[in-house]
Amino acid sequence: MSAQTSIRRITAPQITARKGGEPIVCLTAYDAPTAAVLDEHCDLLLVGDSVGMVVHGLTSTVGVTLDMMILHGQAVMRGAHRALVVVDLPFGSYEDSVQTAFRNASRVMMETGCQAVKIESGSYAAETIAYLVERGIPVMAHVGLRPQSMHVLGGFKARGRNAAVADEIVANANAAAEAGAFAVVVEGVSEELANIVTDAVSIPTIGIGASAKCDGQILVTPDMLGQFARVPKFVKKYGAQLDATRDAVAQYAADVKDRTFPTEANLYRFKSFDS
Ligand code: KIV
Repeated sequence: MSAQTSIRRITAPQITARKGGEPIVCLTAYDAPTAAVLDEHCDLLLVGDSVGMVVHGLTSTVGVTLDMMILHGQAVMRGAHRALVVVDLPFGSYEDSVQTAFRNASRVMMETGCQAVKIESGSYAAETIAYLVERGIPVMAHVGLRPQSMHVLGGFKARGRNAAVADEIVANANAAAEAGAFAVVVEGVSEELANIVTDAVSIPTIGIGASAKCDGQILVTPDMLGQFARVPKFVKKYGAQLDATRDAVAQYAADVKDRTFPTEANLYRFKSFDS
């Protein structure tokens, strides 16, 4: 690649250096054209395993596969040229051994060209994070509500409402930071607990349904764009995509039924075909 065409993306160490500084803007991305639009404003794009729910219609992230993550990771890398791109390791791809985690994480890095992976971080995660980071794979941790554990946790419920669980979440975040994670997502915990985690850890916290005082924020992009009628309570809808899509499709269907077609462009094609 020549110097002129090389792409300079934000790096994992640059994200870590933002601890306590300018808030880090993050969103999820799953396809190239959307990633191209988000890239202008985002420091970090996460190819989240939420793709299973918001794109593929699954009821949880548990059914998401490594191949799905790689396909969406490749698409996002084609669309985004500036933001740091992080790809989620899906359920079952990293928990059983550090070797399995490295094999799958390295496959994701090599086949997508992304710059980091994210793993949901229970107490087992510190060893995995250290193993991956030592071998050249930047890792973002994820504590609090961990959607891949929804069957153990009893659903997508807020976490850390009792002291023992709150302590465990702070301990997991600290262990991830000490193991070398470059940032940590804090999902679905009280504002107070998110602030405690943010004060306690040396790396940036990226909040989702947590606290405005986190070092950065992330949302599931289709949720914030208003693509769904129902979204989690904490999500502010910045767009009305569902209504816009409904209106556009209704207008299209009316045009087809009114025989408003063919359009000018189609007529032009027919003319040049005849001549
Ligand atoms: O999969 C995902 O989109 C995530 C975010 C909610 C942080 O993990």
